[in-house]
Amino acid sequence: MLRANALAWRAVACLWMGFVGGAAHADDEPARVVAHLSSPGEVLSVDLLVDNDRPYYRVMRFGEPVLAPSRLGFILKDAGKLDRDFAITTEPVTRHDATWEQPWGERRYVRDHYAELRAHFVERHGAKRGFDVVFRAYDDGIGFRYEFAKNAGVVTISDELTEFNVARPATAWWIPWGEPNDTELLFHTTPLAEVSVAHTPFTMRTVNGLHLEIHEAALVDYAAMSVRRVEGQRLVASLTPASEGWKVRRTGPFTTPWRMLVAADTAGGLYESNLMLNLNEPNRLGDVSWVKPGKFLGIWWEMFREEWTWASGAHHGATTEHAKQYIDFAAAHGFRGVLIEGWNDGWNSAWAGDGRDFSFTKSYPDFDLPAVAAYARSKGVMLIGHHETGGAVSHYEDEVGAAFDLYQRVGVDTVKTGYVTDADQIHRRDDEGQERTEWHDGQFMANHYLKVVTEAAKRHIMIDSHEPIKDTGLRRTYPNWLAREGARGQEYNAFGRPVNPPEHESILVYTRMLGGPMDFTPGILVPGEHVRPCCRPHTTVAKQLAMYVVLYSPLQMAADRIENYQSHPGPFRFIEDVPTDWDETLAVNGEIGDYVTLVRKDRHSDDWYLGSVTDEEGRVLTVPLGFLAPNRRYEAQIYRDAPTAHWRDHPEDLVIERREVTSSDRLELKLAPGGGEAIRFRALPLKTR
Ligand code: NOJ
Ligand code: CA
Repeated sequence: MLRANALAWRAVACLWMGFVGGAAHADDEPARVVAHLSSPGEVLSVDLLVDNDRPYYRVMRFGEPVLAPSRLGFILKDAGKLDRDFAITTEPVTRHDATWEQPWGERRYVRDHYAELRAHFVERHGAKRGFDVVFRAYDDGIGFRYEFAKNAGVVTISDELTEFNVARPATAWWIPWGEPNDTELLFHTTPLAEVSVAHTPFTMRTVNGLHLEIHEAALVDYAAMSVRRVEGQRLVASLTPASEGWKVRRTGPFTTPWRMLVAADTAGGLYESNLMLNLNEPNRLGDVSWVKPGKFLGIWWEMFREEWTWASGAHHGATTEHAKQYIDFAAAHGFRGVLIEGWNDGWNSAWAGDGRDFSFTKSYPDFDLPAVAAYARSKGVMLIGHHETGGAVSHYEDEVGAAFDLYQRVGVDTVKTGYVTDADQIHRRDDEGQERTEWHDGQFMANHYLKVVTEAAKRHIMIDSHEPIKDTGLRRTYPNWLAREGARGQEYNAFGRPVNPPEHESILVYTRMLGGPMDFTPGILVPGEHVRPCCRPHTTVAKQLAMYVVLYSPLQMAADRIENYQSHPGPFRFIEDVPTDWDETLAVNGEIGDYVTLVRKDRHSDDWYLGSVTDEEGRVLTVPLGFLAPNRRYEAQIYRDAPTAHWRDHPEDLVIERREVTSSDRLELKLAPGGGEAIRFRALPLKTR
């Protein structure tokens, strides 16, 4: 609901109309506040300022600076700067307070409560170019975006000047942008003042204990924004370049993605924020009852173990026979899906980095796709298809329609895609037939990933993108975009270079996971077993179980091979039970890079689940169970590290126990070094009189 609210509008609208002869404006002229916007609960505020004829914004929390004045504007290709000499007018502040329902997610209902200010920027001289900036202030963050009108015509952006000038020293958790495999690097923990160019979500904790996230929402037809440190704690938006040399080319009318800042007292507050989803557009796909979260197994880990191969040959993994074994096991244990990788022609070539040999419609001779899909359906299981492109995106675009048609015809309703190639090596053939290379997160690829999602939606197919563009909340608009990878997943416990350190997941929750669901592929039940001679997971088995709760995905893999599940029915029971769709999610405790405990309520029962993971330190955490329904008894099914457990020496030492609890109890969690704990709180039947 939108309504004008003059009271919240504390600044003087339309007051500042620029100075006559603005170019002669003195450098020492004090900054002038043009407009002010407060969040509904007066926690955060945004000021729009003009200083030395340039526009800035700043953000305060309870009156204390969070972002010092930070620039707004653009440099346009062959058209100069669009960053000064503006007449700025503003519209009255409006307020919005509504609650919307997610078809699936970490929580069912999301409150969208903000105050909005629209400012018009028009150059006072020359062509009188301009744009609007729309600010939204929430109690837990702010968002703003630029809007260009129709009369802007073709706009070619060389640089976006948007800044985030962090007011206080901070620690940052970040991965550098632009390196090979860049979203799959280990996170750095450094002073903010040592950051170079970082991906978003970009997470910080200031010296006064405030937790901050910089990110963007609704990245559509635009280049991704990373943040580049210019000096001190001043960050500037860094847009991924297109091969043509510019960053973005659009034709008016258009809007940029939302730039956003979340501010919270605790690390968990960052995780609980709904700001990114709220800034995205509502569902555009209409009835999405065909979108189904669920768990899956796959012809996958055996390839990482080098027992099977993606390529055809004596050890080919994706055979009709192996597929049927996985389908039988999935059916017997209630899994919705079975992923089949290496089913299609092309894996025998040097595909990584050049997938032009891939066929997306032709199976290897030992894999009968229609027969396997029919067998799966007869057992109540769905196949998960696989499209590895090796980064040959134009080739994939040539085939993707027919490929999805095939999957639709045989009854495959989920497809995992992949883009394994180096940074700036995506292969593109442009409209003139010229061969080009692009980044994974430039404007061309932002459009490509969405094209795949919308083509899939036409055939009621769900998408899980690996080597994806980062998540900016588009699942709200396109709910068939179930999951993505986009960070270092379990597979690195097989690759090494190096394996994931014990702190990894406790950083992921507060960084990558702020963007949305990740297909991390947990569930290795024998972490002491080397996947390859070099490598094994540095976690306990209890931590592998806890990841199902801690690392959210509506599409959650049980990554280990069938034999390990058959021989470990105790811990496997948790993987069978844990849901993938939630009514509510609460961050119980956590510190970035140290530990995290989350609880989630199942969407289809009264049960709650808890996941807690720690870094290389063992620790004791006390969890009050006040989140459980009052006046209700629960059976806590506890999967915890045994006293002897340690990620290095005894990762499989696990205690499984049951006890009755109520909401007034407290549980003490004892997490081993590299350990964790997973609990199902099974709601016991209500007593009838
Ligand atoms: C990398 C993906 O992350 C992994 O899951 C997949 O198996 C391989 N690429 C092959 O496509
Ligand atoms: Ca990957």
